[in-house]
Amino acid sequence: MNNPNHIAIIMDGNGRWALKQGLLRNLGHNKGSEKVREITIYMAKRKDVSYLTLYAFSTENWKRPKKEVDFLILLLNKYLKKEEKTYTENNIKFNTIGDLKAFDIKTINMIEELKEKTKNNTSLTQTLALNYGSKNEIARAFNSIKNKQDINEEDISNALDTKDIPDVDLLIRSGGEKRLSNFMLWQSSYSEIFFIDTLWPDVEIDEIEKIIKDFVKIHRKFGNI
Ligand code: FPP
Repeated sequence: MNNPNHIAIIMDGNGRWALKQGLLRNLGHNKGSEKVREITIYMAKRKDVSYLTLYAFSTENWKRPKKEVDFLILLLNKYLKKEEKTYTENNIKFNTIGDLKAFDIKTINMIEELKEKTKNNTSLTQTLALNYGSKNEIARAFNSIKNKQDINEEDISNALDTKDIPDVDLLIRSGGEKRLSNFMLWQSSYSEIFFIDTLWPDVEIDEIEKIIKDFVKIHRKFGNI
């Protein structure tokens, strides 16, 4: 009966949320970024969750129309600037996974600065997956250890972007689709997965709380009996 130490979320449904209210898709992303703040603060206040990982931008998201991609990056820049106090006031450590090289130097610097400023914070490690794709991460990891011999599971885990964070206990996907979309395929090999229909901007703490309660009831056997 353990609470999840690491929760990961595929935040889907921003676009549909906006269209449903007759708004432009980008306004759904705006609302989605407010939800990121709300859920992150909530997890920081819960003493039993140490890691929260959020899928904010995938390696596949570059295929979206340039206008939407530009908006998402602008939103990320604004978020990094505006939310610094959220991290400091709530003792949250900021972390990322994904290949940051794809972003411009201004964004990379903001990311690195926020990591540096929050590196000693202890209530929660919030990881944003940025230009993240599991297959891309695994390929980069293999390249980094290609000269090693007799590679074992630990060598691979240690070469992944997630080397400093434990595997995912609870994976939640909002927005009604039932797939992993190239998110943490290695790290979620024994995760409990919950798919909810609620669109990300509409997800409330109560719904997350209910999922955690259901998670706690699961007898996790990890292949044992
Ligand atoms: C999926 O919604 C969501 C994304 C592609 C990105 C997630 C981004 C945010 C929650 C906001 C930005 C976050 C930060 C931290 C700045 P979708 O557009 O695929 O929705 P749809 O399936 O309804 O079209």
